[in-house]
Amino acid sequence: MNSCSSIGIGLAGFGTVGSGVWNTLQRNGKLISERTAGGTLLEIVRILVRDLHKSRATHEDVPTELFTTDWHALVNDPAVDIVVELIGGTTDAFEIVAAALRAKKPVVTGNKALLAERGRELFALSLEHDTPIHFEAAVAGGIPIIRTVQDSFIGNRILSFSGIINGTSNYILGRMTDAGLTFEEALGEAQALGYAEADPALDVNGWDAAHKAILLATLAYGFPIDPKEIHVSGIDQVRPTDIHFAKSLGYAVKLLAVIREHEDGSVELRLQPSFIPKSNILASVHGVFNAVAVHGDAAGESLFYGRGAGQDPTASSVVADLVEAARSLGQASGHRGFLPYRESGRIMPVSETSTAYYVRFDVTDRPGVIAEIAKILAEHRIGISGTHSPVNPNNPDAAFVDMVFLLHTCPFGQLQEALLEVKALDCVNSSPVVFRIESLS
Ligand code: NAP
Ligand code: HSE
Repeated sequence: MNSCSSIGIGLAGFGTVGSGVWNTLQRNGKLISERTAGGTLLEIVRILVRDLHKSRATHEDVPTELFTTDWHALVNDPAVDIVVELIGGTTDAFEIVAAALRAKKPVVTGNKALLAERGRELFALSLEHDTPIHFEAAVAGGIPIIRTVQDSFIGNRILSFSGIINGTSNYILGRMTDAGLTFEEALGEAQALGYAEADPALDVNGWDAAHKAILLATLAYGFPIDPKEIHVSGIDQVRPTDIHFAKSLGYAVKLLAVIREHEDGSVELRLQPSFIPKSNILASVHGVFNAVAVHGDAAGESLFYGRGAGQDPTASSVVADLVEAARSLGQASGHRGFLPYRESGRIMPVSETSTAYYVRFDVTDRPGVIAEIAKILAEHRIGISGTHSPVNPNNPDAAFVDMVFLLHTCPFGQLQEALLEVKALDCVNSSPVVFRIESLS
């Protein structure tokens, strides 16, 4: 550790979040020092970037000698006490975090992909070297949900989480609904605002939220979860038709994470665009905001709401972790993360999970289409609560149309079997698009 109570930070990554951490420490460093026993001063002593020549016009105050492109130089610098990983990805980031743990330097990261995909290896290293990994920023940006699960709910059996945990998707859905933007326009705005991942496909295909859901479920249920076991679909399938249709029925379309422990101990974990009743509080979560409803057997239901992405909110979580890491520097039992307490657990296959559904078919409009689809659904014992085929006012005789079915609750597997047969009909032109209808009761 550095002299007195000055703690050296090695900051890997100086993009949206990394530069936000710099800003926050510049702005509030003195306040943090006043609030911590011993007057801890958090000082960034090294910064890792990919491109030394990139213009950093908003950060001309950062001494150029702090920057490096060599992560070994950052991790091995004796002035670095804590390593912050904010470069993203699962390769170089893995090497940096592993090297820091081996050097017994606590790690702070916001990298949910890294922890969901390779957390098992990293938390084993953390245990082996008795050195913590802090990851508050990895789930729901500025909302302190990781601490809540690790600390505040430690006395609860967690019955379920449900929530909106990708700010970019929520922002895009909102802009498509309220401002009539196209998907591409709304995504461009989310990128410009610093909400999206470096690879925005992760936001729109549901995987960024899935990585976060895996972290929450692993903490709550105590067994490692293989991402391949979970069912994920994203908002890239949502069309304005779906949003308007949902609205007319009293629903909002949200990318919803559902994590639920069943009586047999199996865990339902899925990420899908869902219709949720407008009366439910999650339907009122707009823009970049996230919300996570946690149901504990003792605490009952609690809702955590706040900004789920963006520079300052995410930096707020990183800085909180930095203070916690600084407080525990040099103490034994530094492990902080996944402590598997179940040898193994079961993720419920998605085919066994049940809800009602909204299904959109792209069909060739000819007499009998509805009856052909309805016949197959009936043969699979799936009840229909409504059908609709929005007419294109500019072309009421269009040959290809969207046809929407609302279906009663049944296991997803039963629906998938029926849809395979429907898809084979010659009047159906592409794979049906399925959204859940959640009661969230
Ligand atoms: P970003 O804006 O793309 O910044 C990435 C930074 O890392 C840049 O400074 C880049 O260098 C540097 N970098 C990337 N790859 C590198 C490599 N191989 N070697 C050295 N430096 C490298 O990303 P971000 O939005 O700040 O996100 C960072 C992490 O935080 C990600 O794991 C993300 O999932 C997570 N996160 C982001 C948010 C958010 O709202 N953005 C919220 C929560 C968590 P250059 O500057 O030279 O390009
Ligand atoms: N891209 C992520 C989101 C950043 O939009 O939620 C926060 O993890």
